Amino acid sequence: MTERKILQSVEPILRDPCEEIVDFDFELEQLIDDMIETMRKNKGIGLAAPQVGVSKKIFVCEFEGDKENKLARFPLTVLVNPEIKNFSKNQRFMVEGCLSFPGIEILVKRPKEVTLKGEDRHGNEIEVKGNKLYARVLQHELDHLNQTLMVDRMQESKIIFIGTGTLGLPALELLSKDKQYKILSVITSSRKSLKNRKNTISENPIYDLAKKLNLSVTETSNINDPEMVKKIKKYKPDLGVMADFGQIVSPEILKIPKKGIINIHPSLLPKYRGSSPIQQTIFEGDAVTGVSLILTSDKMDAGGIISQAKVRLSGTETATILKNHLAEIGSTLLLNSIPYYLSKDLKPELQNESTATYTKMIKKEDGLVEQSNSAEVVERKIRAYDNWPGAYIIVNNKRIQLIASHFEENGDFVIDLVKPEGRKQMSYADFVRGYKVKLTFE
Ligand code: CO
Repeated sequence: MTERKILQSVEPILRDPCEEIVDFDFELEQLIDDMIETMRKNKGIGLAAPQVGVSKKIFVCEFEGDKENKLARFPLTVLVNPEIKNFSKNQRFMVEGCLSFPGIEILVKRPKEVTLKGEDRHGNEIEVKGNKLYARVLQHELDHLNQTLMVDRMQESKIIFIGTGTLGLPALELLSKDKQYKILSVITSSRKSLKNRKNTISENPIYDLAKKLNLSVTETSNINDPEMVKKIKKYKPDLGVMADFGQIVSPEILKIPKKGIINIHPSLLPKYRGSSPIQQTIFEGDAVTGVSLILTSDKMDAGGIISQAKVRLSGTETATILKNHLAEIGSTLLLNSIPYYLSKDLKPELQNESTATYTKMIKKEDGLVEQSNSAEVVERKIRAYDNWPGAYIIVNNKRIQLIASHFEENGDFVIDLVKPEGRKQMSYADFVRGYKVKLTFE
């Protein structure tokens, strides 16, 4: 038994017609043994001859089951010259992989049950009947012998993307580059409406990225406007993806995509629902935070959880840095989860309402620190509010922004950078020299 090299998706041999097997000889025996060895070594559950460069009608498959999939197990099967005898009318979506497409998992719709006929390794006629995973593998391997690859059977999901802030950037980029998805439109807050809001930057990063990716963009100051509802209905989306949007979405909109709207929320829900989970987790000095994908419901951040990823905090990250990190984690989690959500392998799980906690809309005054505050609180505020409103202290009726600080190894609190009202950013040492005042905390 020798392990053979598995050809990857780009190899033309995968598209060459396969010959019937007529000689059940030693060479065939050897091919079969090598294919079984190759499948097992690569932890596959099926392998067709073209995948090892042999254009002949034979495949092998086997699944011993694992902890989660005990019932899905099926025996080692060797099928020569197989054809379909019959299949069920019932079809189902399932996520598939293939040893010729490492790392790729896509949603494919196939009959639930199938019966194949063919010959065994000695040339005796046999029939193989499978359901669930077994049926799927039998059909996938038979496809290989007919020069059909799983990507040919890919289901395209039509998506609307709803977002404004930076949290959704990596998700939008990944979705736009994945051939399983077609982004019908990117719905974002109108740049005009953003300029009028005091507490936010006037830029719209999602708008900029969508334009760069040549996607259709719809700007709106109110997504629930009847005209917008009409427009979104016309798209007939399968799924919505929402992140960092900044507007409340009405139940009417939530009902439009057939599979609902998945929201990327930067906390481990039901902890920290609401608008400032990232600032809150830093301010609380948490050791762990994360990202949740939820099915958006009409109650804020209370929808069923599709999946979550935990992230360990170092205790030195600013809100801006943490947000970028959670955005990256959330985008991979999203791309890994959508096929399983659509195939119903991942079902949204209700949140435990009794453990829900809430975060508030941050106001400018939240940045205020006083000399009676502990150094710990000041240091956390500087990191939590770095984007807006910033931590500041009032000295002699002047506002001093605290830009950066840290704790020494011996526990001493050190302010690094400040920005006095109407002046440029400066080192704390320069500030003390110029203003003849020291900032001390409890
Ligand atoms: Co395959």
